[in-house]
Amino acid sequence: MTKEEAFEAGQRLKEKASKGGDDHSRMEPEDFRKSLNPKSSVKHVVAVLSGKGGVGKSLVCALLASQLRRMGYEVGVMDADITGPSIPKAFGVKGSVALSQDNLMIPPVSGTGIKLMSSNLLLDQEDAPVIVRGPVIAGMVTQFWTDTDWGHLDYMLIDMPPGTGDVPLTVFQSLPVDCAIVVTSPQELASMVVKKAVNMAEKMNIDLLGVIENMSYYVCPDCGKTHSVFGETHIAEITEMYGLKLLSRIPIDPEISSLIDSGRAYDIDPSCIEVAAKELTGFCDLRVSG
Ligand SMILES: Nc1ncnc2c1ncn2[C@@H]1O[C@H](COP(=O)(O)OP(=O)(O)O)[C@@H](O)[C@H]1O
Ligand SMILES: [Mg+2]
Repeated sequence: MTKEEAFEAGQRLKEKASKGGDDHSRMEPEDFRKSLNPKSSVKHVVAVLSGKGGVGKSLVCALLASQLRRMGYEVGVMDADITGPSIPKAFGVKGSVALSQDNLMIPPVSGTGIKLMSSNLLLDQEDAPVIVRGPVIAGMVTQFWTDTDWGHLDYMLIDMPPGTGDVPLTVFQSLPVDCAIVVTSPQELASMVVKKAVNMAEKMNIDLLGVIENMSYYVCPDCGKTHSVFGETHIAEITEMYGLKLLSRIPIDPEISSLIDSGRAYDIDPSCIEVAAKELTGFCDLRVSG
């Protein structure tokens, strides 16, 4: 070490000591929040979760994003289901993410103006598997937040992977989540695991806006009769038990799956999501006004 370097090191130590030193900073509670980059501002972050896969989280995300867009908001969807990404396909978006001059990922935009970020947009081939371990997955999700040029968004919806593992934990700890929406279906198993999702949100101090029951019923196109394909719903018990709002009940509709499959999520009849979207914007507006 040269004399000059030694002097500088001494100065740094003195500075540290005058600020209270290392020991003092270690006493402070750890803050896991990650900052957005200077190019981005996101007013509200909404997490869509469920205890179980296949209940319709991605559908609900796509429906809500489309409805918020129709209401005139700037909307983005972060597909946090790294190993089972389905958001780009639902919006008919293909291709890969470009990098800006300052090395930020530029989110592809759907034909209706919704910005998307997904692990599938980082792959050369749509059907290539994402084979990565847990910590890398969680890291990707935080990078989607910190290293994407989101521009200005009113709402960012986060399509969570199923369950209460690494990713939901990372999202709840690292992102400023305004509220979460829990998606379930009428099967007994789905309602059982919804309780886990609800308990997780409570433990992490996340406000729950309410529950959306998907695949609630089927209306026969021939006779107009309503059928409970997955058996009678338990949704009233769950919402009552947790004091939650039932935001919406979405029917099983072949039209829904065919529109999703053909990348036309925006064209799905929005009547099943209008109330939920209104509740969401009302809740978020209230948060802003204090
Ligand atoms: N209400 C519905 N009517 C018809 N098909 C649906 C409905 N909800 C979901 N699907 C289809 O079921 C599959 C699973 O839904 P998805 O939203 O991907 O679930 P998750 O994200 O919870 O795993 C998808 O192919 C989707 O298009
Ligand atoms: Mg999904």
